[in-house]
Amino acid sequence: MPRTLIEPFRIKSIEPIRMTTRVEREHLLDAAKLNVFKLRAEDVLIDWLTDSGTGAMSSRQWGAIMEGDESYAGARSFFRLEAVIQDITGMKHFVPTHQGRAAEKVLFTAVCRAGQLVPNNCHFDTTRANLEYLGVEAVDLVIAEGLQPALIHPFKGNIDLARVRTLLEAEGGRIPFGMLTVTNNTGGGQPVSMANIRAYAALLKQHGKPLIMDVCRFCENAMFIKMREPGYENTSIKAIAQEMFSYADGATMSAKKDGMVNIGGFIVLRSDEWMDAVRNLEILTEGFPTYGGLAGRDLEALAVGLQEGMDEDYLRYRLRTAEYLGERLEASGIGFVRPTGGHAVYIDAKTVLPNMPAAHYPGWALCNALYLEGGIRGVEIGSVMFGKRLDDGTETFHTMELVRLAFPRRMYTQSHFDYAAEVIADAKLNARSIRGVRIVKQPKYLRHFTCECAWV
Ligand SMILES: Cc1ncc(COP(=O)(O)O)c(C=O)c1O
Repeated sequence: MPRTLIEPFRIKSIEPIRMTTRVEREHLLDAAKLNVFKLRAEDVLIDWLTDSGTGAMSSRQWGAIMEGDESYAGARSFFRLEAVIQDITGMKHFVPTHQGRAAEKVLFTAVCRAGQLVPNNCHFDTTRANLEYLGVEAVDLVIAEGLQPALIHPFKGNIDLARVRTLLEAEGGRIPFGMLTVTNNTGGGQPVSMANIRAYAALLKQHGKPLIMDVCRFCENAMFIKMREPGYENTSIKAIAQEMFSYADGATMSAKKDGMVNIGGFIVLRSDEWMDAVRNLEILTEGFPTYGGLAGRDLEALAVGLQEGMDEDYLRYRLRTAEYLGERLEASGIGFVRPTGGHAVYIDAKTVLPNMPAAHYPGWALCNALYLEGGIRGVEIGSVMFGKRLDDGTETFHTMELVRLAFPRRMYTQSHFDYAAEVIADAKLNARSIRGVRIVKQPKYLRHFTCECAWV
């Protein structure tokens, strides 16, 4: 058996990427005020800003798009997708939305009240923001291992059951439901084990609380379970996913990830209890419940995409790709969050720029260096994203300075990854020439998206 794992697809349609020179990129980054969010995508060679909605659809999905039924109410495309989702999730109710945060907004507004509290392994930032907007406290209870980047553990996305129990006993009256994010994006795309999902659901049930899962990357999570959790080696991805969903009472999903589509999301719920409120809000904000902010063709593409997302050959290649880049980084002495997650590699910028002071934003500096060095766009997850400038002009800094490289699905081949590994290794070799930045203009919230910087 050959050891090389190949991309399990052939390329039928291509999108050219534009080669740029380093001198050109220097001008482009200067014009973007040293903020890669402000670059035009066509000036980026390898765009690893996010895996959300950026992947390639298959010929079967493009074919299905022609089948889209654009009827306002009761479209055929809705029922086709509903059947696929009911089969995977076992849930009675399916409510489409235009993307993940819309599913969160509709569900939380229907169910939550100010003063409540929701536990999760880690809330994704839109999940946290949607809860906090309603006056609900979002509490992250991932296991301690999940917070140590260099530590190897098979399921770093697991929720800490002892802390959940303590919280349920102390604050049970304030908790409308428990949440669990699979995989744990905020913690590095790390999976949650089946044993943890089962035990968490049982604990919630003892206290009469439903479990709502955030299932953006349930296929990647299922593949990790197959590869790492004893007893699942010979179980199909679909059967693993079905078991994961069997412990939940509902879920929200951004289909822009494992749904293999460029736009879409949904809510699923097992019981009728919240459905009247959810349906009313859906009509108010997203649209009639059989299209929910999506075109019929989007529903068709998702019905196919959800099935392709569970393909084992695809998932093996997907997880191996991230692992492969990790191995290349390790060989170059570059630190990263370990083990590599499902959808991204998080480089520890402090291992490339150990002497750069936090005030020069090493994560941001490395992000800029990867663009200058090789036209690669990642995203800083460090002190520009999570630090703050206080009213007295002083700064707070984040504990970690990471650069996340998130991989669009079925889009880049091994040579792109080899190229990236070379660029990152070169950045480390030339670390002394990498310059830090200062922020010269910033908005009050979410400054990383729009801030303007200058070289120090
Ligand atoms: C875990 C998780 N939940 C929710 C969302 C929000 O989804 P969307 O971007 O489709 O609104 C994301 C998006 O990145 C995510 O990763």
